Amino acid sequence: MTHISSTQAIPDVAIVPRHVAIIMDGNGRWATKRYLPRVAGHAKGVEAVRAVVEACIDRGIEYLTLFAFSSENWRRPAEEVSLLMRLFVTALEREVAKMHANDIRLKVVGDLSRFDANLQALIASAERRTANNTRLTVTICANYGGRWDIMQAVGKMVKLHPGTSDFSEEQLAPHLAMAYAPEPDLFIRTGGEERISNFLLWQLAYSEFYFTETYWPDFDGSQLDLAITSYRNRERRFGRTSEQLVERKKAS
Ligand code: IPE
Ligand code: IPE
Ligand code: MG
Repeated sequence: MTHISSTQAIPDVAIVPRHVAIIMDGNGRWATKRYLPRVAGHAKGVEAVRAVVEACIDRGIEYLTLFAFSSENWRRPAEEVSLLMRLFVTALEREVAKMHANDIRLKVVGDLSRFDANLQALIASAERRTANNTRLTVTICANYGGRWDIMQAVGKMVKLHPGTSDFSEEQLAPHLAMAYAPEPDLFIRTGGEERISNFLLWQLAYSEFYFTETYWPDFDGSQLDLAITSYRNRERRFGRTSEQLVERKKAS
């Protein structure tokens, strides 16, 4: 199922965001502060993922999207990259059965061709196994980049309409890697940096942004509640005026 771009459709101001997208940042600094190797921060970060997935289920959130590895993260020391890959493999091996039992659908988006064959097979099997689950869709963005996503979508769109040179947003959107989900209502970045770092560039056009100093390994359900409380106090105008929103509410 695809969704109309939120730049055109006005989603109901829900008490709880339907889709939360998170840049899980600060693992390395969390570890360094404790005189631990950076990898200890990544391992602890996996535990935080578990806690936040549970919190999303409890709060009725439908889509949780997590930035786990960016297309730029290959620039890190080879040792750290290979450990992150190993952590990803172990997490898949350990968590998928539990996710399936909890009715969670798992998706992994990004340029997966750069991962080794074993990891690609694990991802494919996890996605297949959980494909029909409906309680929560967890998307892991791995070797993902917002620019990569837009470019691969453009490529597919052009191929589908040979000879055409005039395209609309509606023709592009179904080819984006996360076309199965509505656009994020709430974007969270932990770790204190206030930037997108090439995350969902297209899809965040009208998301509400929330930044916290908290390092990802310390993020949990109560931290998520702070973000949701902030989200609830926003007025999502999508270009309209405050007065127009009041009128629309009265009319409905
Ligand atoms: C986020 O934490 C995890 C990944 C990017 C894989 P970092 O590893 O970026 O942690 P900091 O920003 O160095 O503290
Ligand atoms: C963004 O974090 C990517 C992930 C969390 C996976 P980074 O730590 O890589 O971002 P920059 O380099 O500080 O922008
Ligand atoms: Mg970082």
